[in-house]
Amino acid sequence: MIWYPYEQMKTMRDPYEIVDAEGVWLYTKEGRMIDSISSWWSVIHGYRHPALTEAIVKQARQFSHVMLGGLTHEPVRRLSDKLAEWLPGDLDYCFFSDSGSVGVEVALKMALQYFINRGERQRTGILSLTHAYHGDTFKTMEAGDDEDYHFILEACGEKKDVIHIPTEIPALEDAFARFHTKLNCLIVEPLLQGAGGMRMYDVSFLKRARQLCDRYGILLIFDEVATGFGRTGNRFVADLVQPDILVLGKALTGGYIGHAVTVANRKVYEGFYSDDPAHALMHGPTFMGNALACSAALKSIELFETEGYMDRIAGITEITRREMEGLSDPRIEEVRILGGCVCVEVKDAKTLQGYQQYAKERGVFSRPFLNYLYAMVPYVILEEELICVLDCMKDWFRR
Ligand SMILES: Cc1ncc(COP(=O)(O)O)c(C=O)c1O
Repeated sequence: MIWYPYEQMKTMRDPYEIVDAEGVWLYTKEGRMIDSISSWWSVIHGYRHPALTEAIVKQARQFSHVMLGGLTHEPVRRLSDKLAEWLPGDLDYCFFSDSGSVGVEVALKMALQYFINRGERQRTGILSLTHAYHGDTFKTMEAGDDEDYHFILEACGEKKDVIHIPTEIPALEDAFARFHTKLNCLIVEPLLQGAGGMRMYDVSFLKRARQLCDRYGILLIFDEVATGFGRTGNRFVADLVQPDILVLGKALTGGYIGHAVTVANRKVYEGFYSDDPAHALMHGPTFMGNALACSAALKSIELFETEGYMDRIAGITEITRREMEGLSDPRIEEVRILGGCVCVEVKDAKTLQGYQQYAKERGVFSRPFLNYLYAMVPYVILEEELICVLDCMKDWFRR
């Protein structure tokens, strides 16, 4: 019996059974539909891409996995070298793990232990944003700000180590002034808060955050699990403002195999580098650096670099702006567009009831949540396919 995510099993409708997938298309026995959300924002090259399949198969013929405890291999070495070269500045030190949530856990642990290694044990505090989402494991839930999780955390006691602030510079300045002696990090989903409602904010907030982190010696963590690899219209938001620790997941492998990486800059890495064994980072997921995942990631990055993905994303933004212009309805609160993400926020969540079935009948797979109807399409989408997704969203309000 499969236990499905985020669902009340007693009342959930049957999931659509996928029998095949290619490009942006998901195939059921009855027909096909465009995946307008890229399997939770990960499948940027679309499905069954021959180069990605080939990279995985080729590696599987050698070996699929060996642990990184006492062993290493070429795909993981090549991937860490590639990321070090590709990512800005001295974000060079790659710690791999098996999912975005674990990647963020590692980042939070790194920030805490960085200060413990320096003898500053009182710095247990985390500064985070309202509406933040950083994953489903316990510490990431705590760093997040999701109503749905509050009851679980309340059962364990107060969220004593986390302070949430809105994406407003005065609130940021105030939090640093008041709490800087107990903070070890500020963690953000930069520019685009995904699961918290596709909320977009300005880079000036991140620039100020960088200045304040520098002034007070606090680590800045960018959770780019969702925003990385072009989703905001930037390759990485880290290209605009450099964090101390960067977490990537989802599209890291083109969405083909679950994997994540927590990348530290030199300062953070050197905080662990010593003759004292107790200063080592005590973490080691079994599947970290999985050879199939690393091979997929290397190929995914190669495609991203050689096939003009940043131009494709700019094209998606342009078409989306053009097509969504003028959409207005009394039930709509706001239409937001950034890079390869569009969100129609409605005033009342009931407005979106029935949308998923409506979209399916029009050949689009969508999964609105709460008050948010959104699309984050694979970057290989054709103009007419994208227009089909956007028309579906618009026509829902015109019925
Ligand atoms: C910003 C962010 N961080 C972390 C995660 C967790 O990633 P995973 O589902 O791979 O654990 C997600 C997933 O949606 C995310 O959007």
